[in-house]
Amino acid sequence: MRRAAIKGVGKFLPPDVLTNADLEKMVDTSDEWITTRTGIKQRHMMKDPDKATTYMATQAAKNLIENTGVDPSSIDLIITGTVTPDHNFPDTSNGVAHAIGATNAFGFDVNAACSGFLFSLATAASYIQSGMYNRVVVIGSDTMSSIIDYTDRTTCILFGDAAAAVLLEADEDGHGIIDQVLKGDGSGKEYLNLKLGGSLHPITAENLNDSGRYIFQDGRPVFKRAVLGMSSTIKQLMERNNLRPEDVNWVVPHQANMRIIQSVSDQLDFPPEKVMVTIENYGNTTAATIPLCLNDYESKLNKGDNIILTAFGGGFTWGSIYLKWAY
Ligand code: ACO
Repeated sequence: MRRAAIKGVGKFLPPDVLTNADLEKMVDTSDEWITTRTGIKQRHMMKDPDKATTYMATQAAKNLIENTGVDPSSIDLIITGTVTPDHNFPDTSNGVAHAIGATNAFGFDVNAACSGFLFSLATAASYIQSGMYNRVVVIGSDTMSSIIDYTDRTTCILFGDAAAAVLLEADEDGHGIIDQVLKGDGSGKEYLNLKLGGSLHPITAENLNDSGRYIFQDGRPVFKRAVLGMSSTIKQLMERNNLRPEDVNWVVPHQANMRIIQSVSDQLDFPPEKVMVTIENYGNTTAATIPLCLNDYESKLNKGDNIILTAFGGGFTWGSIYLKWAY
């Protein structure tokens, strides 16, 4: 059976770092509050005003190419999950293709907030499983600092900037993406959104300084829905693929809050040593969190490992993917 398998990973983190101690000087917060409520200690920040999401995505794709030795001209398609593209258009993915010399690739972006990588991966896998394409680069890249109000302590402590990528190729040996449960609920828009800057409410001279220019989140309802959404879709995947907790080698949760990760793990009886966690160093990098985890844990993964990816984000969007690691 032809499946789509991850055959390599790459990442990019901007060099500047914003620590909890830095934030203590900017807003009324403390390292203790941030650490106990979220698990975050620091986040990377893209401070160069000439560089943003396409640059970071390009660097992650270049790192992927270095790591895998893949010829850029053999890439068929590039898909980038992002909610912070450089511009409303053109997209990120075709910019990356141009910058890395993927001259035979087409590309598009997927807007699904923190589920952006998951939805992009599922889309890429369908193209490969159908036999239409053989080699797809899937990227998660977000410059969250561009939509954060650094005077709002409820959001500025949470997010960071980063990009990470995977190479997806056809696999006939039983590895790759086996199943997926993806969900959406547009009624969630009131709890997590960016009100201004789109076609409904463009930025004008009058609203230039409104808080609607920045990300808004009502944390508690989002927290509850995130735990429910991730754990219920993992449960569904495990039931229909006859997986017991001991059959799962790794869970790769979206990194929004350490307490969400712990609640999901506890509900499903996954011991902490099977759950990838990088939130301490990067914060919530939106579409980049899951491929960043795969990068940082790559050396611990073995061919044939059963892995469940799971995410929840703005929209609401959420879901889980079950795959067998291919290398
Ligand atoms: N420092 C100190 N105190 C703070 C801070 C801060 N940085 N932020 C909020 N507080 C205060 C609040 O004002 C509140 O004070 P009050 O009790 O006097 O009113 C108190 O701390 C508790 O605030 P809560 O919002 O209830 O804190 P909570 O424990 O819910 O944590 C958090 C907030 C971290 C945002 C949590 O709700 C969360 O993680 N939510 C889900 C995040 C998520 O999964 N998002 C989805 C992905 S993001 C995307 O898609 C783009």
